[in-house]
Amino acid sequence: CGIVAYIGHREACPIIIKGLRRLEYRGYDSAGVALLNGQLTVYKKKGKVADLEAFIGEQDTHAHIGMGHTRWATHGEPNDVNAHPHYSTSERIAIIHNGIIENYAALKQHLQQQGHVFHSDTDTEVFVNLIEEIQKQNHCTLEEAVRLALHEVVGAYAIVVLSKDNPGQLIAARKGSPLVIGVGEGEFFLASDATPIIEYTNEVVYVNDYELAVIKDGQLEIRSREDVVQTPYIQTLELELDRIEKGGYEHFMLKEIFEQPRSILDSMRGRLELEAGHLNMGGVRAYERKFVNADRILIVACGTSWHAGLVAEYLLEDLARIPVEVEYASEFRYRNPVITERDIVIAISQSGETADTLAAIELAKSRGATIFGICNVVGSSIARATDAGAYTHAGPEIGVASTKAFTAQVTVLTLLAMIVGHKRGTLTDTRLRELMVELDNIPSKVEKALQLNDQIEQISETFKDATNFLYLGRGYNFPVALEGALKLKEISYIHAEGYPAAEMKHGPIALIDENMPVVVIATKDSSYEKVVSNIQEVKARKGRIIAVVTEGDDVIPAMAEFTIEVPATSEVLMPLVSVVPLQLLSYHIAVLRGCNVDQPRNLAKSVTVE
Ligand code: G6P
Repeated sequence: CGIVAYIGHREACPIIIKGLRRLEYRGYDSAGVALLNGQLTVYKKKGKVADLEAFIGEQDTHAHIGMGHTRWATHGEPNDVNAHPHYSTSERIAIIHNGIIENYAALKQHLQQQGHVFHSDTDTEVFVNLIEEIQKQNHCTLEEAVRLALHEVVGAYAIVVLSKDNPGQLIAARKGSPLVIGVGEGEFFLASDATPIIEYTNEVVYVNDYELAVIKDGQLEIRSREDVVQTPYIQTLELELDRIEKGGYEHFMLKEIFEQPRSILDSMRGRLELEAGHLNMGGVRAYERKFVNADRILIVACGTSWHAGLVAEYLLEDLARIPVEVEYASEFRYRNPVITERDIVIAISQSGETADTLAAIELAKSRGATIFGICNVVGSSIARATDAGAYTHAGPEIGVASTKAFTAQVTVLTLLAMIVGHKRGTLTDTRLRELMVELDNIPSKVEKALQLNDQIEQISETFKDATNFLYLGRGYNFPVALEGALKLKEISYIHAEGYPAAEMKHGPIALIDENMPVVVIATKDSSYEKVVSNIQEVKARKGRIIAVVTEGDDVIPAMAEFTIEVPATSEVLMPLVSVVPLQLLSYHIAVLRGCNVDQPRNLAKSVTVE
């Protein structure tokens, strides 16, 4: 979910609506606003922010204080009633909430006994009634009631609360879900991330867990849950507005795919110094000895970031000879994993807010492991929860399906494996030098791969009505096959499976017939010959082969229905190039099917619930 709020001298509603549009990638099941202007008025609607705007229409929205929410449903189906903001029973208090209140059922029962009436199925409505009940019982201020309520709820939240009885005040709090406050001249902007804020101010305060922010009379005060006043740490952001806009592209996803030559370069900037002949990563330097002496590296992540983790497994084992395990954060945290102080845990996350990844970090930390974070969003919860790390510097990624964040993650992980391998003596000077030269060439190779766009659009025409896809790859290209399949599923709703090419014969081969498109990533590498055999196996069953090959390949074109040629590079770096045509393939197929590419159904960009 995304939350946004404003308090100041301007009209609140347009700022909130614009902010919600910027945050819509976080969820788009329903949206709503609450405005405080003597009255406390709530407008909310199932659907996108545009539906909310149409619903508000010409109504008088004059107010200088307000808040808005765009929802990704957890408790209760997406409909008007479950949309935020939620009123308390008396309708004197309203709340917006991102997160999950785990003990909501018990609280709800208790509140019902006290006479509170519930209209929705949400855990959020319980939260606002709890605040109302506490205020009534204790005859205290709203601020005090919110603070006391925070002691009773279990779970994760970022909330904003407005009350009719406190006409000039806005209260917010967080635990586990992100909350940023933009500080302007006598005005404040609150949001789940900085994107709705930066067009007004680049001075921000990241609210910490268990903190409460109270804004009134042009002043911001931050208190701990124990009521101790905290000094807000104001940071200056370097985010540029044009990086969060579409800049002439039809979709954010396409823009982000095409940004990759630059984002990969940005992720290497200051780290790969070819002329001087060294590699630098500040975060690694601080933990160099730990990396060099690590018994094992555990990688935790979700979704596309998990795929980047799989590429890193190949890289780190190959170049640095350290055993690696790659874990889904959600599984890792609920097992009883074996972790020692000589383990390094690498957490990978574009948003830096994924709840499962964050919880996996906390678990590993409690068992004494060293945690290294790889995040894209500066100042995010994961970046702040890790001992050391490296930002990917890919710039804001708005399209829900991750593209440039993936290649930036893989680039940073490659640099990491090279640095650690060299320090451990498993990567020779000569080999290091070769890889550095090759890595330096990657942005221009990605640029070349992007020139395949038209060809891929044509191929997409042929397959746009397929109901299934199989993606095959081996070695470094196996995680790429998984990522290609995930991209297609996410945005075109075509069922797709990624598989190790050789493993295909133990199951998926049964699916192959003359209707089955099979994307094989078959670039020239150490398993090339084997992949060629796998292509033969598919062909023998009449599968329709789309092969991604190295430029100049003269074997596979004779076997495949379509051949996509990417520039040659080292096997180790190939995922950075071979993933590009797969991103474009899923993009074009989804567009041809009329799907909402940037906001696919049921998904959200950052999943801040378990
Ligand atoms: C969601 C997004 C994916 C992303 C995953 C992990 O599912 O839709 O694109 O890969 O979360 O997110 P993270 O921000 O931790 O990389």
